[in-house]
Amino acid sequence: MSMAEHDHNPPQQDPRYDLFGPYEKLIEVRVLGSKFLVPENNKLLRCFQYLSLLGIANGRFCWNGDCKTCQVRYRTHPQADERSALSCQVPVAEGMHITELSEELSLRLRDVLASAGK
Ligand code: FES
Repeated sequence: MSMAEHDHNPPQQDPRYDLFGPYEKLIEVRVLGSKFLVPENNKLLRCFQYLSLLGIANGRFCWNGDCKTCQVRYRTHPQADERSALSCQVPVAEGMHITELSEELSLRLRDVLASAGK
């Protein structure tokens, strides 16, 4: 889903707000080259859930650092070294580039990524 297609109410009016950590604004990240807006002050996996509510909810994720099915590789900016992380543990940051997704994340975000603009 592209940024333009992802039309959101202000956080306080969004019925999904309780699921996410408190946030005042959406920040831009890239996932496999596509731009998305996600809630600041949240872990990356929660941001993925913002993009695919049911996809991530139905995934095999423990949310606590044990299962490793949420592994990603990312850069903090385009020239930075690539790092591995568990997306349930790493906080999202403005401008983050997620360069690789685990098999489970790829499956759960497949539709979002397929319809995303670059
Ligand atoms: S969801 Fe299990 S380690 Fe992140």
